[in-house]
Amino acid sequence: MGARIVIADEAGACFGVERALKMVRRATESSAGPVKTLGPLIHNPVVVDELKTLGVEVATSAAQEPGVTLVLRTHGVKPEVEREAKESGATVIDATCPFVKVTHKAVERLSSEGYQVLIVGESGHPEVEATLAHAPDAIVVGSANEVERLPIGLKVGIVVQTTQSLSRLREVVSALVGRVDELRVMNTICSATASRQRAAASVSKTSDVMVVIGGRNSANTRRLVEICSSNCEKTYHVESADELEEAWFDGASVIGITAGASTPREHIERVSNAIAALVESE
Ligand code: F3S
Repeated sequence: MGARIVIADEAGACFGVERALKMVRRATESSAGPVKTLGPLIHNPVVVDELKTLGVEVATSAAQEPGVTLVLRTHGVKPEVEREAKESGATVIDATCPFVKVTHKAVERLSSEGYQVLIVGESGHPEVEATLAHAPDAIVVGSANEVERLPIGLKVGIVVQTTQSLSRLREVVSALVGRVDELRVMNTICSATASRQRAAASVSKTSDVMVVIGGRNSANTRRLVEICSSNCEKTYHVESADELEEAWFDGASVIGITAGASTPREHIERVSNAIAALVESE
């Protein structure tokens, strides 16, 4: 008897990614000159390759020739990068996700109100780097263990990388309580991330095998892999259907699928159909 395939209720491309993809596609239709994204538009190499077939190039520098349309990606950029792009004469389209912009506003506010700002997130991640540019004295904290080693002030404000897990935020908050007089937490985890994590946790608890689809360079996809692995030992991370291996599904009754916020729905369908074909041929 074939296995049952269950796709998480909330999986795949989020509002911010859909919006950015629409903005780029529209630009390719309306711009006379070349359309480029500053860095890969999203952390999903399959999508970046698909955009290449529409003529969209990946630029490595903000300074472009006049006539170029430069799209700023969902993760956001430092303000000076946007300035450089505009001053170079390029037409700039800002596809920064509105949820990321909320985080920028939150750090600016906390910092102007005298809080020592902590950003809970992955140091070096483009979103975190862009957020940091809005409050240069902020400190990036990856885990509760790091908090113990930090010289902390008495009035601390926290914001969170939009794709972090609520459990990590809770751990950092607990590590701080008792060490500071005032603690202000702005939970800037985006709702798309939180709902995908909840749905992934739920499906992975009842699956024999979990397949998580998304870029290996995608922070939110890696978080889904962590969550699913803690519930389901046989959790596999793939970028596309080509990576699936028949042996993973041996003896499985329920196969769960989820996907990061940068994975379009068509990719989920492709992987789901490929798994169905593999388990049927068993
Ligand atoms: Fe935006 Fe959240 Fe997606 S921050 S890009 S809606 S994961």
